[in-house]
Amino acid sequence: MRKSFEKFLARQEALARQYGEAYEEKQHNRGKLTARERIEFLFDEGTFEEVDAYSPSATTSFGKTVRSYGDGVITGFGNINGRQVFAYSQDFNVQGGSLGSVHAAKIIKVQDMALKTGSPVVGLIDSGGARIQEGVASLAGYAGIFRRNVLASGVIPQISVIMGPAAGGAVYSPALTDFIFMTAATSYMFVTGPNVVKQVLNETISPEELGGASVHAVKSGVADFVFNDDENTLRGVKMLLSYLPSNNIENAPYLATDDPADRIEESLRDLVPEDPDKPYDVRNIIRLITDKGKFLEIAENYAPNIIIGLARFGGYVTGIVANQPQVMAGTLDMNSSVKAARFINFCDSFNIPILTLEDVPGFLPGADQEHAGIIRHGAKLLYAYTRATVPKITVVLRKSYGGAYIVMNSKGIGGDYNFAWPTAEIAVMGPEGAIAILYHKELAAAEDPVALKKELLAQYREEVANPYIANEKGFIDEVIDPSVTRLKIIRVLKSLEKKSVSLPRRKHGNIPL
Ligand code: HXC
Repeated sequence: MRKSFEKFLARQEALARQYGEAYEEKQHNRGKLTARERIEFLFDEGTFEEVDAYSPSATTSFGKTVRSYGDGVITGFGNINGRQVFAYSQDFNVQGGSLGSVHAAKIIKVQDMALKTGSPVVGLIDSGGARIQEGVASLAGYAGIFRRNVLASGVIPQISVIMGPAAGGAVYSPALTDFIFMTAATSYMFVTGPNVVKQVLNETISPEELGGASVHAVKSGVADFVFNDDENTLRGVKMLLSYLPSNNIENAPYLATDDPADRIEESLRDLVPEDPDKPYDVRNIIRLITDKGKFLEIAENYAPNIIIGLARFGGYVTGIVANQPQVMAGTLDMNSSVKAARFINFCDSFNIPILTLEDVPGFLPGADQEHAGIIRHGAKLLYAYTRATVPKITVVLRKSYGGAYIVMNSKGIGGDYNFAWPTAEIAVMGPEGAIAILYHKELAAAEDPVALKKELLAQYREEVANPYIANEKGFIDEVIDPSVTRLKIIRVLKSLEKKSVSLPRRKHGNIPL
């Protein structure tokens, strides 16, 4: 054997030794796959190309020299569902997956390659944050990663998958990306950990209570998806990628369907209850109109008064934003406004049309919301809808009142095609509120106020709060039979396929933050 080849093989053996059985066992005992197993599971078999596998760590100070190939992160590219994706996978077994300067440079290299080639990036995170021994070099490493996250935002999809700790600097790269997955039980995210909380605030809190998957899926809204273990989390990532284009120039992947475009769903005529105060699950409507009833819901446990997610109509990927009458009567509050606004921004960046299913009595009233900034947060939704230039379709299912009428993709802010079902109630406010303001004197003086109220409510519905006035005035393009909603949506999506809008030249707008 030639000497040069012997050396080549020796290096390969040394690398393999680093990932031996003891190494694997350590990670499996924590209920986790190893960094390498995660990569193998994520990518189509045999397609992953590893970059910089042999880069040695630069950590030499503070008596904690690290002698490892790869510096605790596996980086490279391959195919997922047959399409090119770049990825990095942090290795908790090397210095707690902490980010040293070499580790950072490797991640930066794949970020740059992904941006150059218009491919998504998936980061598998299992890290104690900035590597303490490397000091400022590791902080600068994070800075370089964050900068690329921001440069790539809206150009290529970026997905972060938290599969162990994400502490300190490790949280801010995910926060800058488009979607965050968390693995229940083994993952947590916090800017400052329980030890610091104890020192600074003298409060005792466990990592799970501070930043576990359920905290971020329900309370903070940081996590978009939670799955029970590593494998299911990675399956979820592949599923999400199947709906996303590789970059902002391409369209999302078309998937031919044998679900007929003209499928009639008569049950839709009865899904919205006769009684306007009765709740229902808007997901039942979504499942009846999308291709094969499929719907990938995002952030389902955060601000559940609004539903967001991805589906296909006639094979074309569409983002859905739907008020959920089942939760808080579908009112818009701060969290639901921000949740929907961010999703609309994502869809608009990546050429994904937006379908809005509307049943909203208004913004949530009260000092809590006003003092915490519902004006500022609600404006995000208004801004996001108005700025979006992708095809935008609305179906008013039932309530469409006041500011919420305007915000939820009304024609005035740029809705391309707005349908209403016969059950739609479109007005400045609901019947009860309107009558209380306009007829309070008459009601106070009435012999039979209950009968008068009933009469006025019926009159208001007949004369004001219905879809026909809006239709006659052109604010609703068509009032439709609910059973043909799928066909109508598919037709309009097709008609809008070549929609093109140019906005005034500017550096960027000033979205309320
Ligand atoms: C260097 C680290 C490390 C780090 C962990 N290790 N974090 N080494 N730098 N940041 C090492 C440990 O020394 C240990 O090495 C090994 O990784 C495993 O860690 P353990 O503590 O034994 O594991 P565990 O009990 O599971 O706890 C994991 C942990 C904890 C919760 C992540 O290690 C921890 O709290 N680490 C520090 C987290 C943190 O505060 N990071 C913030 C850094 S500041 P040995 O050799 O013993 O196996 C930061 C600023 C950037 O990131 C801000 C940008 C905005």
